[in-house]
Amino acid sequence: MMNKLIDGSSISRYMQASLSQEIESFKQSTGVTPGLAVVLVGDDPASAVYVKSKGKASVKLGMHSSTVVLPQNASRSEVLNTVHRLNENTDVHGILVQLPLPSHLDANDVIDAIRPEKDVDGLHPANAGLLALGRPRFVPCTPAGILELLKSSDIKTSGKHVVVVGRSNLVGRPIATLLSSKGEPGDATVTLCHSRTKEIAEVTRSADILIVAIGQPKFIKADMVREGSTVIDVGIHRLPESEGSGLCGDVDFEAVSKIAAAITPVPGGVGPMTIAMLMHNTLLAAKLLHR
Ligand code: GUN
Repeated sequence: MMNKLIDGSSISRYMQASLSQEIESFKQSTGVTPGLAVVLVGDDPASAVYVKSKGKASVKLGMHSSTVVLPQNASRSEVLNTVHRLNENTDVHGILVQLPLPSHLDANDVIDAIRPEKDVDGLHPANAGLLALGRPRFVPCTPAGILELLKSSDIKTSGKHVVVVGRSNLVGRPIATLLSSKGEPGDATVTLCHSRTKEIAEVTRSADILIVAIGQPKFIKADMVREGSTVIDVGIHRLPESEGSGLCGDVDFEAVSKIAAAITPVPGGVGPMTIAMLMHNTLLAAKLLHR
């Protein structure tokens, strides 16, 4: 059972150790310390935990870290002014606005305001457009982390049928684009499923590699997975007290792990990779601004 686990925590640690060395040599050669600024609007407890991990990782790797916390009722202009200020701050190379934003704010409006050269989330239309054209600059962190997990686990994608469940700009759309692009990892035949997909179990059962980012706890059951396939679970949810208050993903891990040949756990699968790739993108942003 253990040999089929894709251990994102240890792959992420390995990547961060190598990034830490790269950051040190960048600092030595340029005199510049890469800096990441994270903007958190509101008091969503899960977002606060993620933002804290991002700050901690940047400091651990030798980068500057700053977090701007705005209240739940922050106005559009307060948020945009914060982004404009960070765009102009030369100590800040990467800007990330934690999503989701409170419902009175339009995420597109805020993302559009980020200077594309500092958009380490890869969500600005300029970066999403480059990715769609096969010329990626900043690859969104979770899809980038999934590619690294597949590479590190020696799971080939060329000619495979990849089924992606979920069509978000953060995960579903970019990973579908990346894995259908030329080269390895890539060269896959990709099917993108979503809430309106008919007979979704039939589609997911045809996957060699199933990537799930639908945002619903334990959505993928054992009968939706082909024996011997690879399953990548992007979801993370807190279970109710009646079920032990632990974490679970979008995949029913206990049942599906008996069928899959390889599977990511939650926690310890995709999550830590997202952080590693954010650190990678922040260093890349500093390199692009100081070349
Ligand atoms: N919320 C959950 N994942 C992410 C992410 O990768 N980036 C941002 N900005 N918000 C998120």
